[in-house]
Amino acid sequence: MIIEPKVRGFICLTAHPKGCEQNVINQINYVKSKGAIDGPKRVLVIGSSTGFGLASRITSAFGSDAATIGVYFEKPPAEGKPASPGWYNTAAFELQAHKAGLYAKSVNGDAFSHEVKKTVLDLIKTDLGQIDLIIYSLASPRRTHPDTAEVFNSVLKPIGQKFSSKTVNFHTGDISDITIEPVTADSDIENTIAVMGGEDWAMWIEALKQADLLAENAVTVAYSYVGPELTEAIYRKGTIGRAKDHLEATAFEITDSLKAINGKGYVSVNKALVTQASSAIPVIPLYMSLLYKVMKEQNLHEGCIEQIQRLFQERLYTSKAIPTDEKGRIRIDDWEMREDVQQKVIELWKEVTTENLPELGDLAGYQQDFFNLFGFKVAGVDYDVEVDEMVQIPGLV
Ligand code: NAI
Repeated sequence: MIIEPKVRGFICLTAHPKGCEQNVINQINYVKSKGAIDGPKRVLVIGSSTGFGLASRITSAFGSDAATIGVYFEKPPAEGKPASPGWYNTAAFELQAHKAGLYAKSVNGDAFSHEVKKTVLDLIKTDLGQIDLIIYSLASPRRTHPDTAEVFNSVLKPIGQKFSSKTVNFHTGDISDITIEPVTADSDIENTIAVMGGEDWAMWIEALKQADLLAENAVTVAYSYVGPELTEAIYRKGTIGRAKDHLEATAFEITDSLKAINGKGYVSVNKALVTQASSAIPVIPLYMSLLYKVMKEQNLHEGCIEQIQRLFQERLYTSKAIPTDEKGRIRIDDWEMREDVQQKVIELWKEVTTENLPELGDLAGYQQDFFNLFGFKVAGVDYDVEVDEMVQIPGLV
């Protein structure tokens, strides 16, 4: 079929298999171009099909020759109906990994559930024995608790007071004022923590530990975000920020629980990037359009793959101790948070209007990245050619 983008707000209902494949190949080539990493050999990535998780899987496999197991929640294709992008990304990744002689299998289902954990544990037991690195990269709007079946929905709201800011419709470039009311019930905060906090991460690590599937010196890393003052009311000091506080605290609990095998839990604070998860957060797309402009001008811009390759090669797997900030977090958002970068973004933020956004910001770059997430507008792909939407994932369990 011919597949075209069908955009609805901050999502796109279609995805292009060839475009997704090309994105994956580009990421693989990038990792290979940066040379070998003396890294992990058996890696589990939870949330492995898009964004930072996909980049983590690619870096593990093609940077450090690792066997990888991926866990994700993606929609398979049906006749005439394309799959979700993470499906096509995974198919492309596993095809390339197998061609390179690398073990790569995956499980498609709800990572929060006991069933998916059990399937993954059984797979590790049978195929890999133990795991050296677990990347936890889930981004989900809801979670069904596996013990109680209670459904938690996360919210993106400020806490304490309302937040007024500029925001952009990133499809049209229209800048408007937005006011977001604060949470009215503590349950909104608790629910967001239940979805995006550290409880499920800790459950994964505990289940792996109990089954003796963690190798000596095993490391686990979850991803967090801090960001600037401009966005802190909606992000770091809002409901999602509380969940990230919880995630970051969980890293220490995990390290304590892994003493016997000298295992470590870390949080890596990553850069703001266009992914399916971040496009949904108000105000952030305008900040990112300006940030992209400044970082590109200064030759500091990175995408998910550049971030994660650097995380592995310059933070996690060097001969030195892993560097952390005063809160014990790995910082790979260091270039985003550089004072000169942030200063410039603040200046642009004051000036930016609908009329001057194309010039002051990198809206075009934002839009390009958004379409790329779904395999559209990818260089080298001919979108007028019929493609088979019924792509299968070779290592799907
Ligand atoms: P994403 O939307 O690209 O990826 C989310 C992944 O989670 C996908 O593989 C998806 O299939 C999987 N997933 C979602 N629900 C699932 C479920 N119930 N069961 C199994 N898999 C499920 O998101 P992104 O942006 O890569 O986010 C990953 C992490 O990185 C999140 O913790 C996010 O907060 C963090 N982060 C994101 C930043 C950004 O700007 N995008 C910046 C810094 C941190």
